[in-house]
Amino acid sequence: MPVIKVHDKSFETYLSEETILQRVKEIAGDINKDYAGKRPLFIAILNGSFMFASDMFKQLTIEAELCFIKLASYKGLKSSGSVVTSIGLEDDLFDKEVVIVEDIVDTGKTLYNFLPKLLHQQPKSLKIAALLHKPEATEYPLELNYIGFRIPNKFVVGYGLDYDGLGRNLKEIYQLI
Ligand code: IMP
Repeated sequence: MPVIKVHDKSFETYLSEETILQRVKEIAGDINKDYAGKRPLFIAILNGSFMFASDMFKQLTIEAELCFIKLASYKGLKSSGSVVTSIGLEDDLFDKEVVIVEDIVDTGKTLYNFLPKLLHQQPKSLKIAALLHKPEATEYPLELNYIGFRIPNKFVVGYGLDYDGLGRNLKEIYQLI
């Protein structure tokens, strides 16, 4: 099995390009069925989800919109919990069918803290599509409506995901050895 190095760490192939693309196609197929006759807005979370969002979006046959946003967390002055704010969300979500597109749900903290901001705008529906999910690591209750792969609690890179800035360009997903 090919072993690669990203910075100081070694990774081995975990999901091939073919396996990923096949699964992405299946998810797009489910979305095409579930949203037939509707016009969902996909909100892809940068940076990690750009490849997943792009490959999935290409497979959609329904009318759909797509935007990319960036999330930034900071500690509120009074509260000890982190607050998540978004950059680039210009669309009005009122009455829209919204699908969040995320690369990976790990602890779930980022999305869990961000969802109230979206729900506040009263979308007609709000679903989550995550390429990867680490169920053993997830601490925050989140309903994930579309999941590409459930994976063990090990660090992964590739297909948009990075290790300290590198590895996003890899076509496959690699797991830390
Ligand atoms: P969460 O808030 O703990 O669910 O973390 C979500 C974010 O952490 C993801 O959107 C990724 O950017 C990053 N992340 C979590 N696990 C990994 C991993 O294994 N590889 C690369 N990035 C990860």
